[in-house]
Amino acid sequence: MHMKRIFVMGSMNMDIVFEVEGLPKNGETINAKDLLVNPGGKGANQAVAAAKQNVAVTMLGAIGNDQFGEQFLAELKNVGINAQFVTRKDCRTGVAGVLLHQGDNRIMVYGGANSVYSFEDFADILTKNAEKGDIFVTQLETNIDVVCKGLKLAKELGMTTILNPAPASQQIVSALKYCDIVIPNEIEAEVLTGILPCKENYAELRDKFKKLGASCVIITCGNNGSVYLSDDIELFGAYEVDAVDTTAAGDTYIGVLSASLAKGYSIRDAIKYATAASAIAVTRKGAQRSIPMEKEVQEFLK
Ligand code: RIB
Repeated sequence: MHMKRIFVMGSMNMDIVFEVEGLPKNGETINAKDLLVNPGGKGANQAVAAAKQNVAVTMLGAIGNDQFGEQFLAELKNVGINAQFVTRKDCRTGVAGVLLHQGDNRIMVYGGANSVYSFEDFADILTKNAEKGDIFVTQLETNIDVVCKGLKLAKELGMTTILNPAPASQQIVSALKYCDIVIPNEIEAEVLTGILPCKENYAELRDKFKKLGASCVIITCGNNGSVYLSDDIELFGAYEVDAVDTTAAGDTYIGVLSASLAKGYSIRDAIKYATAASAIAVTRKGAQRSIPMEKEVQEFLK
C-alpha cells in the first residue's frame, strides 16, 4: 500500500527553558537550576514526532533571519523532514520562554516569523505537491485566518485534515467543518464547545462537536489518557511513568497519531502508538529532543 505523506503547516519556536525550584513573584529575581535551549513550536514538534516514525513529512512554516532560524533548519533536516519550503522572513524566529517547575510548564510565546506566515506562502506549494489522501496537520500558533484557509484548501485537495486547536481559541470554530479529526486537550475542548469534558458528558460533548461540524474528535487528558468521540465513545488510558517534563507531550501524540494513520493503521491502533510515544516523551526534558523514534515506541509497547 502507498504510504501517505504528511504536510504540517504550523509554528517553529526556539524553546528557552528555565528549570526552576519555585516560581518568581512580582519584583523577585530567582536562580534557575538548569537552562535548556532546544527547537520546539507546536507545528515543528508535531512534524518531528511524525518524521521520527519514519514517514515522509514536509514542513510548511516560517523562520526568521537569525541564528535560531539556521539552527532550526538544521534540526528539521537532521530528522529527515523536507524543509525545502520553509519560508525565511525578515524578522526573528519564534521564541518560547518556558518555565519548567516540578515537571509542569508555563509557556510564553513570541510569534516572530510564525505571525507573518501567510496563506500565499504555502497555497501553491500544497496544491502542487500534495496528493489526494495525504495528511494535512495544523495548529493555532500561526494566524488563525491562515489556518482556516489552509484547512479549507487541504480539504478541497482531498487530503485528510487533522487540527490541534492549540493554543485554545474560539475563532477556529467556523473551520471545524473542514477537519476530519480534531484533537484538543480538555481546556481547548471547553473553549470550543462550552463544555468541560468529564465522563458524564462525553456523549453531549460528542453531539456538540458534531453540530459544529467535527464528527471525529480525540480529547487528550494528560495522565488520564485520551477519549475518542465519534459514533462510538472510547477511553484510552495512559501509561504510568515518572514525568519530568510534559512539554510537547500533546504534540508527540498528534504527530505519532498522524504518522500511524499515514502508515495505514486503524484509528484505535494509531491512538495506542500515540499514547505510548507521549508517555516516553514526558520522561525526557525538552520539546523535539524528548520525542521518541519509531523503534523506541515499538519497544515500549512490547
Ligand atoms: O506544545 C509545546 C510547544 O508550545 C513548545 O515547544 C513551545 O514552543 C510552544 O509553542
